[in-house]
Amino acid sequence: MKEVSIVALPGDGIGPEVTDVALQVLDTVCEQHDIKLNVTKRPFGGTCYDEFGEPVTDEILETCKEHKVVLLGAVGGPKWDDLSANLRPEAALLKLRKELGVYANLRPIFVHSALSGSSTLKEEVIEGTDILIVRELTGGVYFGKPRFSAEEDGDPFSVDTMKYSRSEVQRVARIAFETAKLRGKRVCSVDKMNVLESSRLWRKSVLEVAEEYPDVELSHMLVDNAAMQLIRNPKQFDVIVTGNLFGDILSDEASMLTGSIGMLPSASLGGENGLYEPVHGSAPDIAGQGIANPLAAVASAALLCRHSLKLESAAKRIEAAILKLLDDGYRPADLYNDEPGTTLANTEEISNRLITSLEETAK
Ligand code: NAD
Ligand code: IPM
Ligand code: MN
Repeated sequence: MKEVSIVALPGDGIGPEVTDVALQVLDTVCEQHDIKLNVTKRPFGGTCYDEFGEPVTDEILETCKEHKVVLLGAVGGPKWDDLSANLRPEAALLKLRKELGVYANLRPIFVHSALSGSSTLKEEVIEGTDILIVRELTGGVYFGKPRFSAEEDGDPFSVDTMKYSRSEVQRVARIAFETAKLRGKRVCSVDKMNVLESSRLWRKSVLEVAEEYPDVELSHMLVDNAAMQLIRNPKQFDVIVTGNLFGDILSDEASMLTGSIGMLPSASLGGENGLYEPVHGSAPDIAGQGIANPLAAVASAALLCRHSLKLESAAKRIEAAILKLLDDGYRPADLYNDEPGTTLANTEEISNRLITSLEETAK
């Protein structure tokens, strides 16, 4: 029997609730594919701070680097909001992404037909939407130096730096073009080149990469317009490639096309490493209630099968189980709106139904 070893970092808030479901699903499909799944679990973020006095330890980072494949829940919460910048749970996540070198964050936005009535947007606008946001993840204003706070004439000020190099832009652009080749063959690069120096370099660098991909159509859009166009006519987009901060904001916005942020998975890739996490956060407002939507985490596990384990059939089966659950009318609280034929389901019920349908389809 083949063995696969991954690290699980459930994190804070609803992180452990949704990661638990994703791990059960992973375990089930791996067993069905004659693979033994070894999971090394570690605290991360706020829970790690509570145990070790820092949001991630060197040992945990090393374990992640050794295993190369990490499934993460979410980090953060009000309990840790007053900590200094480097002790915050979010600092651990940024450090992990940087150390793993996972510069390309793939965030698919796929509108399930069963959910076209669950969005706050009109059905005819969102139906058939299938977008991939490729967010640059280890550069930009999240990491640029200098970064500091000081005071000038009694007036406190703070500095963040948005920096991009040509090589940083071009490697993520290549991922966008490569994935576009396998989809709708269109890339829209989103920037703010009418104002930002780093965006002018971004656009020039993407244009250079585009020359290597004559079969992929490239367009450019300013980020403020892109935010509007995503809501006006999302179907115009295939692959969107953009910087770290713009990608963060646009993907939360785009999540509402699917009905809820609880639906959006992500894969962060770089070299041989893969970090898989839902796009949503630790949702402190619903943590501990057993009602979190685990589907983003489960769909992230499908991406882990696809990109790291190279088990495309397992990925497809997980995605089919999600589809069936929704087609059968089961809705987590964040998607439930009393529509006829639908049933409200908590995290555990969703988990049980996914496992049952995976077991049934294996027969
Ligand atoms: P959030 O994504 O945690 O929550 C936003 C809203 O969406 C909340 O109302 C929440 O209940 C709801 N929601 C999110 N995921 C859900 C799910 N799976 N099922 C049902 N409802 C869900 O964003 P926030 O409130 O801005 O941030 C809370 C904390 O999470 C902050 O500390 C933030 O830094 C952190 N955060 C972490 C990550 C991450 O670990 N990758 C991502 C985003 C935010
Ligand atoms: C995300 C989150 C993170 C980010 C935070 C928690 C650091 O919002 O994964 O989208 O901004 O990248
Ligand atoms: Mn975010």
